[in-house]
Amino acid sequence: MDAHTIGEPVSPKARREVLATADEGSGPGASGAGDPDARLVAPVVVDGGEEVEEAGLRPRSLTEFVGQAQLVEHLGIVIQAARQRQQPVDHILFAGPPGLGKTSLAGIVATEMGAGLRITSGPVLTRAGDLAALLTDLQDDDVLFIDEIHRLHRSVEEMLYSAMEDAKLDILIGKGPTARSIRLDLPRFTLVGATTRTGLVSGPLRDRFGFVGRLDLYAASDLRAIVERSARILHVDIDEEGATRIAERSRGTPRVANRLLRRVRDFAEVRGNGSVTGTTAAEGLDLFGVDELGLDKVDRAILETLCGRFGGQPIGLTTLAQCVGEETDTIEDAYEPYLLQCGLILRTARGRVPTPRAWAHLGQLPPAGSAPPEAATLFEP
Ligand SMILES: Nc1ncnc2c1ncn2[C@@H]1O[C@H](COP(=O)(O)OP(=O)(O)OP(=O)(O)O)[C@@H](O)[C@H]1O
Ligand SMILES: [Mg+2]
Repeated sequence: MDAHTIGEPVSPKARREVLATADEGSGPGASGAGDPDARLVAPVVVDGGEEVEEAGLRPRSLTEFVGQAQLVEHLGIVIQAARQRQQPVDHILFAGPPGLGKTSLAGIVATEMGAGLRITSGPVLTRAGDLAALLTDLQDDDVLFIDEIHRLHRSVEEMLYSAMEDAKLDILIGKGPTARSIRLDLPRFTLVGATTRTGLVSGPLRDRFGFVGRLDLYAASDLRAIVERSARILHVDIDEEGATRIAERSRGTPRVANRLLRRVRDFAEVRGNGSVTGTTAAEGLDLFGVDELGLDKVDRAILETLCGRFGGQPIGLTTLAQCVGEETDTIEDAYEPYLLQCGLILRTARGRVPTPRAWAHLGQLPPAGSAPPEAATLFEP
């Protein structure tokens, strides 16, 4: 096997060779990223139409990006320093739950750097050749955004290592004794990765990012500012109370806030005069089944199962899922995090239990002696 370097720019022939041969590791690939979940308060994109509407609401610069103050400050420094040195920004990983602004930030990095943006996602790159095609097609300083980077195929991920570290692409051409390895020079580029599951990004990949930005659920005041901004863009007449009501029910997630705003706008246009006040927002959201905490039917079914049917006894995930007619994965990924965050349920070694707040939310009193184990021991003399 002989190794040699082909200088930049990559010749079309080398590219063709790469594309034709660097496809070891082709496999069934990850399952589709589409989510059938159509809940009003789901943090994920529910349909294509929403994706289009969302694009118009995306913040385009760091100053337009509301909230996540510390992350924005750090990112601002990293970007300005790179601009002053006239270098591309270091590779960046954004981590956090769905709908908090990871894709938006990737776009902002490219805009602030005045660089081109290429977008792809982990499950789409099933073969190393797919990545090679993308990388060799980049221009100097481009930003390559890989969404769901924790779902990259192993062979693709390994190819990414040398691309990130040395801007080189190592490719094996041919098979058996005649196989040879070639090393291509890549343009200087910035990789921006996004993941909802940091724990699933492998150590070697995580270590190659120079900056890891974590996004947290938004405070209600930030969500209110986001609702007001979106209302301006969508020409919705809304007052402070109206924006506050929507923000309170958005589960800390801008994507949910924007979706609730659109539904409340529908409600205001059909049942009112088109203006969104606190009362219109509350009535509209009640009508759509989103309560004061942002819980929907399924969330409430979970609480009712825990409190009513099982009277506060710990129950396992499978039983809970069966009782509310959902998949266990859906309960774990989409419902539980927010219920836990609200302090409505607890996960104990013996199963899920409701907290006193859950009983209160349902307007019920816990049966005597049914306080969760943690609370009971905490106040015992
Ligand atoms: N800080 C913010 N300020 C204003 N709007 C925001 C902010 N963050 C997110 N949004 C809005 O929320 C929507 C969803 O954001 P985005 O697509 O960037 O989230 P994401 O983290 O990439 O989600 P996913 O994990 O599902 O890909 C955007 O269209 C944007 O309008
Ligand atoms: Mg995204």
